[in-house]
Amino acid sequence: MPLVTSKEMFKKAYEGRYAVGAFNVNNMEIIQGIVDAAKEENAPLILQVSAGARKYAKHIYLTKLVEAAVEDTGLPIVLHLDHGDDFEICKQCIDGGFTSVMIDGSKHAFAENIELTKRVVDYAHERGVVVEAELGKLAGIEDAVNISAADATFTDPDQAVEFVERTGVDSLAIAIGTSHGAFKFKGEPRLDFDRLEKISILLPGFPIVLHGASSVPQQFVEECNKYGGHVPGAQGVPESMLKRAGTMGVCKINIDTDLRLAMTTSIRKYYVEHPEEFDPRKYLAPARDAIKAMVQHKMRDVLNCSGKA
Ligand code: G3H
Ligand code: 13P
Ligand code: ZN
Repeated sequence: MPLVTSKEMFKKAYEGRYAVGAFNVNNMEIIQGIVDAAKEENAPLILQVSAGARKYAKHIYLTKLVEAAVEDTGLPIVLHLDHGDDFEICKQCIDGGFTSVMIDGSKHAFAENIELTKRVVDYAHERGVVVEAELGKLAGIEDAVNISAADATFTDPDQAVEFVERTGVDSLAIAIGTSHGAFKFKGEPRLDFDRLEKISILLPGFPIVLHGASSVPQQFVEECNKYGGHVPGAQGVPESMLKRAGTMGVCKINIDTDLRLAMTTSIRKYYVEHPEEFDPRKYLAPARDAIKAMVQHKMRDVLNCSGKA
């Protein structure tokens, strides 16, 4: 099976009331860890590449590795651009083999966001590629967008309908309280489920996307710090909330921070226990296993997408 778009994947997820995991990839071990998990779980999969990942690993290396993953597993896999900032990067990814792109115009005013998104949609659809857009602002730090909690604005449900109608976009990332990185809530974690419900009722059958959905498990933070890390008090999205969102029209859930934490914790642990070692394969193999375990847990216990490939 070649790379797929998320069209069928989201249709099945919407009807089955589960979500597909979108995991960020930066190198071979991360890709292999995620893909091994998906294979064992027989789960649909979105591998996403940020502008930073493209810069770090180069477009061609990442696309070839993902093509290898498709050949190796036979699973339906989407190759997606995460947080495309402008038309040019989306065009490069569309022309360069991606099956899905995100144009993140959330930092622009409503009208400009529509105009930019529509331009990408027109270009992508002519070439069989699907498009995710974002409306509303998440707090936290992204590649090119750095928004403080005070500037975060939740998605307006009526604007979401107008946005989808006017752009023809295939999925929409909304802001309901999640944010990027390890520190998501000051006090009690809270997502605006009423807002999510309104949006999903107004857009029946339409796939909604949640960014900033890492849960930042406390035991990982503690373990990372036990082995010499200095991750300060972290606060993620409780997994029970993500589970609930998956039954409410949220078809794609983005996870990166939890994978970073799993990988780094594993490498720190390895080095504390084996200070004499300097063969990279020795610490990257358990790091890859740690990513696999984290992704399997998400697929089984949070996304509910195991067995749905
Ligand atoms: O939302 C951002 C993702 O976690 C990607 O992060 O831009 O550091 O690659 P990055
Ligand atoms: P986290 O930082 O919560 O993992 O979010 C990742 C994300 O939204 C990538 O686009
Ligand atoms: Zn994101």
